[in-house]
Amino acid sequence: MLIHRTSYCGEFRQTDVGSEATVTGWVQTRRDHGGCIFIDLRDRSGLVQLVFDPQIDPKAHEEARRLRNEFVIGAKGAIRDRMDGAINPNLPTGEIEIAVAELAILNVAETPPFLIEDDANVDEEVRMRYRYLDLRRPKIAKIMQLRHRVTQTVREYMDAHGFLDVETPVLTKSTPEGARDYLVPSRVSPGQFYALPQSPQLFKQMLMIAGVDRYYQIVRCFRDEDPRANRQAEFTQIDVEMSFVTQDDVFAVVEGCMKELWKLIDVDIPTPFRRIPHSEAIGKYGSDKPDLRFGMELVDIGDLAATAEFRVFQTVLENSGLIKGITVPGGTSLSRREIDELTKFVSRHGAKGLAWMRVTEDGIDSPIARFFPDETLAALPERMDAKAGDMLMFVADTPKVTHEALGALRLELAERLDLIEDGRFEFAWVVDFPLFHHDADNDRWASEHHPFTQPRPEDVPLLDSDPSAVLSLAYDLSVNGEEVWGGSIRIHDRAVQTKVFDLLKISPEDQQERFGFFLDALKFGTPPHGGIACGLDRLVMLLADEPSIREVMAFPKTQTGTCLVTDAPSSVSPEQLDEVHMIVNAPDTDD
Ligand code: AMO
Ligand code: AMP
Repeated sequence: MLIHRTSYCGEFRQTDVGSEATVTGWVQTRRDHGGCIFIDLRDRSGLVQLVFDPQIDPKAHEEARRLRNEFVIGAKGAIRDRMDGAINPNLPTGEIEIAVAELAILNVAETPPFLIEDDANVDEEVRMRYRYLDLRRPKIAKIMQLRHRVTQTVREYMDAHGFLDVETPVLTKSTPEGARDYLVPSRVSPGQFYALPQSPQLFKQMLMIAGVDRYYQIVRCFRDEDPRANRQAEFTQIDVEMSFVTQDDVFAVVEGCMKELWKLIDVDIPTPFRRIPHSEAIGKYGSDKPDLRFGMELVDIGDLAATAEFRVFQTVLENSGLIKGITVPGGTSLSRREIDELTKFVSRHGAKGLAWMRVTEDGIDSPIARFFPDETLAALPERMDAKAGDMLMFVADTPKVTHEALGALRLELAERLDLIEDGRFEFAWVVDFPLFHHDADNDRWASEHHPFTQPRPEDVPLLDSDPSAVLSLAYDLSVNGEEVWGGSIRIHDRAVQTKVFDLLKISPEDQQERFGFFLDALKFGTPPHGGIACGLDRLVMLLADEPSIREVMAFPKTQTGTCLVTDAPSSVSPEQLDEVHMIVNAPDTDD
């Protein structure tokens, strides 16, 4: 049987002409031309053309008539030059073909639900149901190969820098990272549950207490939250922790690793990356993961707005709100309909309106211009670095809404006006995050990252007086507006840790119940330590220039958390439920 190839299909070149080869793979296409049958044969490396010529082997030629798309075959023959005029410059193997002398049909295939080719316009749901066929498409196969190179590169890099790969449990206790837990009922301990880890956070910190010193793991994390283009319930982190380090040490490790990774797509990235304080990121870009590939920074115009007799602006200023604007380059071309759409867009981010002004050669043209003194109208374009042809857009609201709405508008406009250069990458560390944010729904403080993040030492006294002013030693690395890495220097002092739990209104009993094991561990000589974790799927998404992390996962879940290949989640038998002491109190959704 012809099952042992001599090379992958996509590897043959003109220099191989004259040699014998055996190839295996899937039939991409079959063309019957005059006397000869041509097959494009595919494997994970690409395509090669096979020719079945009755002059060479009448038996193989006869068998080749039976071949259909996606049949699995082995073929042996001589590599020869293609005829003049038959050369395909778009195919790496386009100069040669294999004249087949022996064919083995290794398996037949039903007609697949879609054509296995890159340009096929197939519904995502169908692709995901037959993901094993989708993965045969050259583009997706390449992404999987890139993902492999990424993990391989990370492993080599981490090993070279002295990191130990240590596995941590998947059946464990809840780790707070801001999402809901996935729970697993225990059979042997009736009524008790494991939680799947939202991250290995506490285990990696205990590994530092254990003296591992430098840990990394490429690890699956589970968060029961609604999936999005850049979010899945089950995803992979490159998880890192180091002892006896400062923030700068962690940054240096990540920057070196990122430099290696971008070499995989032939891009040399400059390091170190720039650092932006959190307050500046929010102030200028309206986001803690700023996209720095284009300008359109947010500008505070509160003082100028104060001179206007415009009710909306005055009310906001009286209520300690914030009025900011962005300059839309060439924005005078936006139609009224587009402005209305953008007004709706910002309203989805909480803004009550969107004020706008066209900057023309003759001055400001705007329905609200009449409320403004001439000096203000003259000063605005200068303040906002605008020239004739640009449009100024303003939101007046609470600082949170103004920033969120304009931050989102900035991204939307960059997309609409095509302001983002292809192939450009902008990296930035966002530093000096606040330790807490106020959770308005429950009227209490919540961790901005997670509760193990160290407050800046100089801010520790503020924990008692003004928690909102405490900054932390937390940091994120954003790439093109995507948060790719996030971490912090940790609390290694038990008293500070308990104090933070107290501020988070976790009662002493709860602290003991949920984190007692960790508070205990902190007693036994905890080294100063810190770390970081990377969303591997997001990283590959950026490297592969894909719009969604589903494209870079072999078997992703849908928007509703279903695995279409296996139809998970699904119901289980009454016996299985009995074994884990469970009674289901839900309508049976399975047909
Ligand atoms: P964090 O929660 O910021 O930190 O996660 C680290 C990185 O993981 C990625 N990420 C996700 N990717 C896909 N789908 C998701 N649902 C998802 N959630 C997070 C992001 C993010 O930057 N234990 C801490 C790290 C630490 O402090 O060391 C943690 O998990 O790219
Ligand atoms: P109005 O006086 O409501 O007709 O609004 C006049 C203009 O101001 C419209 O373009 C509104 O979209 C805009 N506007 C209203 N409220 C706000 C706000 N809070 N921030 C920015 N612009 C607003």
